[in-house]
Amino acid sequence: MRKKIIAGNWKMNKTQEEAMVLASEVIHMAQDEVDSSVILVMGTPFIYLQAVKKLIPAGGHIFVGAQNCHSEVSGAFTGEVSVPMLRSVGIEYVIVGHSERREYFKEDNAQLAKKVDLLIGYGMTPLFCCGESLEIRKAGNHLDFVKNQLTESLFHLSAQDFEKIVIAYEPIWAIGTGETATSAQAQEMHQTLRKHIAHQYTQTVADKISILYGGSMKPNNASELLAEADVDGGLIGGASLIARDFIDIAKSYPA
Ligand code: 13P
Repeated sequence: MRKKIIAGNWKMNKTQEEAMVLASEVIHMAQDEVDSSVILVMGTPFIYLQAVKKLIPAGGHIFVGAQNCHSEVSGAFTGEVSVPMLRSVGIEYVIVGHSERREYFKEDNAQLAKKVDLLIGYGMTPLFCCGESLEIRKAGNHLDFVKNQLTESLFHLSAQDFEKIVIAYEPIWAIGTGETATSAQAQEMHQTLRKHIAHQYTQTVADKISILYGGSMKPNNASELLAEADVDGGLIGGASLIARDFIDIAKSYPA
């Protein structure tokens, strides 16, 4: 059984007071309503990581995660946050290679490979994002484009380390647009990526990797997406800012 993971990406939203209210609501609702087999991750801004972590009961299925990390261990990188820093405050999940990082901060596949290596080296779980633009999809190159993102950032890993990765497929045209990939489009990509992984490693490795879908996942479309054989969870932007919606998504796995 692959891990079921519903991760929220709060992006650059919420003041401290709002963040604490949101996190408390998510934690309370999750404890009452969400099956403990579903891993919940709140991807908060760096500045709230520790405060949110303090609210979370230890040893459960709820985690706080970071949205980014730097590709070097330490040094003169003003304003950046390193993997050892995150590890030292007990962070276990880190989003890597979100399309907004790739677009606005020019992160490329090679740099993301370094981030992934560091995270694995420090015993953390990278939530590795991939996904194509509308232009690439319209040209019919989306499957090859996303496969190549995995090849260039992840396929240098040993099978043992690769198994520590969580993948999030986020078509850029579906992020924050209200336009969702159809469940068939999501399944096509997820299945293609799993086959790509099986080809590089083994079917056994591929079958262990959780592949999340991200891009306007909401309570009203989550059950259809999560019903697909290769969709193991979600990476949620807008709807993760509303506790009720985030929790309802986490309750949308087929029975
Ligand atoms: P939305 O759910 O707002 O489309 O954002 C998706 C996303 O970018 C999650 O990382």
